Amino acid sequence: MNIYMDNGATTFPKPPEVAEAMVRYITQVGGNVNRGSYTSAFDAGDVVYETREMLAALFNSHEPEQIIFTRHVTESLNLVLKGCFNPGDHVLVTSMEHNAVMRPLNALLEKSVTFSCIPCTPEGMLQSDAFETMHKPHTKAVVMTHASNVSGGVMDIQKAADFCRTHRLDLIIDAAQTAGVLPIDVIKLEPAAVCFTGHKGLYGPQGIGGVWLSKAFSRKLQPLMEGGTGSFSEEEVQPRHLPDKFEPGTLNLPGIYGLHAALSWLKKTGIDAIHHHEMTLTQQFLEGLSTIPQVQVVGPLDRAKRTAVVSITTQQMDLGEMAHRLGKDYGIATRSGLHCAPRAHQTLGTFPTGTVRFSFGYFNTSQQVDAALRSLKELLNN
Ligand code: ALA
Repeated sequence: MNIYMDNGATTFPKPPEVAEAMVRYITQVGGNVNRGSYTSAFDAGDVVYETREMLAALFNSHEPEQIIFTRHVTESLNLVLKGCFNPGDHVLVTSMEHNAVMRPLNALLEKSVTFSCIPCTPEGMLQSDAFETMHKPHTKAVVMTHASNVSGGVMDIQKAADFCRTHRLDLIIDAAQTAGVLPIDVIKLEPAAVCFTGHKGLYGPQGIGGVWLSKAFSRKLQPLMEGGTGSFSEEEVQPRHLPDKFEPGTLNLPGIYGLHAALSWLKKTGIDAIHHHEMTLTQQFLEGLSTIPQVQVVGPLDRAKRTAVVSITTQQMDLGEMAHRLGKDYGIATRSGLHCAPRAHQTLGTFPTGTVRFSFGYFNTSQQVDAALRSLKELLNN
């Protein structure tokens, strides 16, 4: 038996079209973008542009150049966080953030950029009035996850957006767990940046991610790197226009071809249909867990407040051993430990032992969820 339930880390399997498109690029296309005047370079240029268009449309934006390609959401967050603050600036985060947010912010302390953490409830949800009480005169931005990679809890991003609009703050969204999963409407939310990766809810390959930048924010943001862009080559300074300002060097073209195919698959299959399937499995799993008294579920029980990520804990056995035995004895892939989010586990009361996390994707089935529940019962009763 081989049951993959670690889709919060990376979705698997990918739609077959993804690998086919990557192989097509490597074996039949091969050209670079903005640097060659031959047919394959034009093919690559078209695919890159269309991928930007599809990503922009995903966020309800109509300007493809506002999509910047990076390697992953961690690079997107580093680009945004390290390029926009000045000494003395203050940032608000939630107590549910991943280290992709917390480590760059801790590194920024050396440049006198400070942060405060908005406390969340023991279920990992935002406290309704916490934003106002933590705001300082020198606060410049709110940086927050849209959904926790530990609890699956979905944050009230609209509330954060309203707060940012009132106080004229930049809203920087970590959409690692939600791009391709939940709606993110940049017209409604007016964020400064939406950071995402290609290999989770978008069902693309690893090594390709990106960030949507508002035009105003992109003007004040400094690049993380400078270099060749195939544009304004007579100049030795970085171009100021999007996306070239933030995209020096050759892009990950096999990754973009794969992501293009993944986005086409996503559109054909329907994000709503995918989400509905994943949440039906989540509900089935949560109901099944409620019949296993030795197990406690972390995060909100209401499925409307969560994604298809379910973390559990138990006093009955070591959680690392549980994940190991699920893999070895039952062929079930999960992720145990702290999920690179120690602060989230502190909030949820699961630090330092962590949790065992099951996370469902479109290719999981109801039979697999039953098998996972049966395996858990057997493990805990033996
Ligand atoms: N941040 C990813 C996870 O939650 C890798 O597993």
